[in-house]
Amino acid sequence: MPMYTLRKKLMYKDKVILGFETSCDETAIAIMKDSKVLVNKISSQVNIHERFGGVVPEVASRAHSEMIRNLFHTSLNEAQLELSDIDIVASTDGPGLVGSLVVGYNFAKSVAWSLDKLFLPVDHMVGHLSAPLIEHPQLNPPFLSLLVSGGHTQIVLVEEWGKYELLGTTIDDAAGEAFDKLSRYCGFGFPGGPAIQKISEGGNESKVPLPRPKTVGEFDYSFSGLKTAAIYYLQDLKHEDEVSRKDFAASYQEAIVDSLMGVFEKAVKETNVPTISGGGGVMANKRLREKLGTFAEKDGLNLYIPSPSLSTDNAAMICSAAQMNLTTTDLNINDVRLSSIIN
Ligand code: KG4
Ligand code: ZN
Repeated sequence: MPMYTLRKKLMYKDKVILGFETSCDETAIAIMKDSKVLVNKISSQVNIHERFGGVVPEVASRAHSEMIRNLFHTSLNEAQLELSDIDIVASTDGPGLVGSLVVGYNFAKSVAWSLDKLFLPVDHMVGHLSAPLIEHPQLNPPFLSLLVSGGHTQIVLVEEWGKYELLGTTIDDAAGEAFDKLSRYCGFGFPGGPAIQKISEGGNESKVPLPRPKTVGEFDYSFSGLKTAAIYYLQDLKHEDEVSRKDFAASYQEAIVDSLMGVFEKAVKETNVPTISGGGGVMANKRLREKLGTFAEKDGLNLYIPSPSLSTDNAAMICSAAQMNLTTTDLNINDVRLSSIIN
């Protein structure tokens, strides 16, 4: 280990990191000490946005403003810490809904400023990328990460911590968006991913013939054609070949998971990495987790994915990204807007 990294590792060992995540519709605060999560609080706005069938940005930022102070005090109380115990403050600074980001980011920055502590802006996707470390500290580069959320679908090669290469991305909708948009069209529920997963249970995933879209870029994704094909299928449906909700949902979920796996498997083979990982809300999907498990076992790969509650948005992953950056990378801590690496 280079001297500089070792020095940083010792310097930031045992520090208390306070993390904020408000990029979409979850107000989330976590506290981590020496890589252990002391508290991980999430105040979800699902009930507020449900009736609109999607997140309403202005409503989301107002709800964050109303929630954040209480959540902050509850987090400190539950961790049995005083304000003065905090050593480092980290917050998501993008990508996400601007009005939502601003609430958490400014609150976090104010806390850091008032305590005269180090403030780290963290990229949301680097947060998802770092989430597996919480439960799997043995995750080490080189590895390939499949990041699948409501806004992004990315295959990222991590050659070393802090050095990320974006191998592929979606050219249109993200995987989570494909779940959400179809669910909204069909009235399956909000958010779409968990709703479709639930309806799919016991369904026949081969019942409805749906495409597995291809792209020009070898490791890119496309989901908008799949969504349109599913909608056309429903519109063209004749009464005599009626399909059950279960079978339709299972077939759609299978098409998304198959598409994700097909490109990801190709990327793993091409890069020859020994380890695979992932994160983002869609990583909570049972079928995707099963297929990743089977693939890893068959090919003798290490698989480190966060449990479902750490796959969807949370602030522990922001603490984890801050901790990882402080202890394992040679990045200058005064210049840690990690997003510039991925986006
Ligand atoms: O990472 P995330 O919580 O927020 C964003 O950064 O977007 O991801 C949210 C996305 C939504 O599209 C949601 O429908 C999807 O993750 N999602 C799932 C599941 N749980 C959440 N998709 C499929 N299966 C799930 N179980
Ligand atoms: Zn996310």
